[in-house]
Amino acid sequence: MRIVAVAGQKGGIGKTTSVMNLSAVLAKGGNRVLVVDADGQRSTTWWAGNGGEDLPFDFAPDVDPKNLARLRELPYDLIFVDTPGNLEATSTLSAVLDSADFVILPLVLDPLAVQPLVRTVKSLVEPRHLDYRVLLNNIDRRRGDAHLQDWEGIVDNLGLARFKNHVRKSASVTDAPLTGRVVTDYTDTRQNRAAIFDYNSVALELQSIWANAPVQAGAI
Ligand SMILES: Nc1ncnc2c1ncn2[C@@H]1O[C@H](COP(=O)(O)OP(=O)(O)O)[C@@H](O)[C@H]1O
Ligand SMILES: [Mg+2]
Repeated sequence: MRIVAVAGQKGGIGKTTSVMNLSAVLAKGGNRVLVVDADGQRSTTWWAGNGGEDLPFDFAPDVDPKNLARLRELPYDLIFVDTPGNLEATSTLSAVLDSADFVILPLVLDPLAVQPLVRTVKSLVEPRHLDYRVLLNNIDRRRGDAHLQDWEGIVDNLGLARFKNHVRKSASVTDAPLTGRVVTDYTDTRQNRAAIFDYNSVALELQSIWANAPVQAGAI
């Protein structure tokens, strides 16, 4: 089993969106997946509530560090944990990272998002020797390939590990929480194609990263 924390000490970077859509793709791919909402803001819970029984994964809200410390006892292949983006809820975030095997750190192409990312990696991820990848998210295609490449260079120059794949900005992704939908529910139309492609690519990349990395001692 793997416990994946989606983290970053900044709001609005795509933690909740990444948790819901990557979990959906990996659940449809045959994994038993649990999504845990450890963010007191409860966005994931609201989204999952709108989706109801149709979601391809199980779901549980829990911000209690004692419960989060015991996630590994649960019968799943993958547990994705959505975490708080504010600096106050550090005991919850610490409990999640103490149990996690892997961390996904979404990054939007906004200069003001860089410092919180670096701080999260240096203060919370690296001290725990956790494997992680930065996920470039919400990419505005109108800014062009050079803009994206500049940002890949910024992440690389900071010495941070990142996914080779990224997630573009798409209206279907923004609208989906309202109807409780996740990317695996999208019909294969022109406006949905980028989101379907991007989340599938990132999920495949995750599986190839994990195929080369042993799970933590004690894990099943
Ligand atoms: N790839 C994307 N395409 C379109 N909208 C996105 C994308 N990623 C995130 N968003 C939007 O950005 C906002 C913040 O995302 P959210 O997942 O709530 O971030 P966080 O959980 O880090 O606060 C939401 O309105 C969400 O719909
Ligand atoms: Mg969120």
